[in-house]
Amino acid sequence: MQQFERADVEEIFEVADRMRPFARREYVTSVLKGAILSNMFFEPSTRTRVSFGSAFNLLGGNVRETTGIESSSIVKGESMRDFARVLSGYSDVIVIRHPEIGSATEFASASAVPVVNGGDGANEHPSQALLDLYTIRAELESQQKRVDGFRIALIGDLANGRAVHSLLKLLSLFENVTVKLASPQGLGAPRDLVELLRKRGATVVESHDLREGIQRVDILYVTRVQEERFGTQEEADYYRGLFRLNQEIYSKYCESNTVIMHPLPRDSRAQGQELDVDLDANPNLAIFRQTQNGVLVRMALFALMFDVADEVGQHATRPNWRMRRRDERTGAAN
Ligand code: NCD
Repeated sequence: MQQFERADVEEIFEVADRMRPFARREYVTSVLKGAILSNMFFEPSTRTRVSFGSAFNLLGGNVRETTGIESSSIVKGESMRDFARVLSGYSDVIVIRHPEIGSATEFASASAVPVVNGGDGANEHPSQALLDLYTIRAELESQQKRVDGFRIALIGDLANGRAVHSLLKLLSLFENVTVKLASPQGLGAPRDLVELLRKRGATVVESHDLREGIQRVDILYVTRVQEERFGTQEEADYYRGLFRLNQEIYSKYCESNTVIMHPLPRDSRAQGQELDVDLDANPNLAIFRQTQNGVLVRMALFALMFDVADEVGQHATRPNWRMRRRDERTGAAN
């Protein structure tokens, strides 16, 4: 995330806005015709993998995909560097998700083509943070608010959540932000990120109390206990379910227009439920708008990396097809 300055972020968002007609299938573009994305996912993923792939397809490019470490040559002892050299010979851009911290950086150092970090262990998940901030901006604008001076609460496993880590770095680029951090004892945000935010002028308030943590904010960013990052399942189980947001708690403690976000997946099993499904009818629940925004932001990233952001429209036609799609707000088929 440190590679981005505020002007870069604004540029990505401006291009993402222009990608909407393509994501809506009003137009198809062939601007990346012939280009190959290698989507390398060595940890569980659905939305990140599919939305990166869809974004590339929507720009007219081709996607090759590997999922699971067990089906790659890494299990034969191949180093990340060899792997990167080989794969970059087959690709024009690579997205990698891998369980080791720093893996994307190591991979990129040996790759001949640009590499996007799709999540490196508990460290970072920068494209998620970009789509989160894009969503925050859109939701705030719909309430006539601005990102500078806004108030956000991050809830849950702030120690292991890589989306949280990248988002905190990104938030440090904005003015007068208030960041409330509420986590179970032992799952607090990394100290260096708290210090970074304070140094850049943000107001940071930490607590271990869900009910206190969710009050007086514009955005609530709820996260899952990252059970795959704990030494034992018992330890993960101890934390799961400690912080749960549902409609009753929301109504009692949150301001009436507080927007609810979550990087997803939410843990809907009985022991988890950090974000209760009884919030699904709440119009301030933005989680599915957030996932849709992921496609726009990832299209923008590719368009900028390939330096074709201004040519996307020149290679556009109307699609030859139209598929029925249920209207998300009304539920009606169209
Ligand atoms: C996140 C991840 O993998 O870090 N998911 C995602 O990419 N949307 C968050 C999570 O798994 O809890």
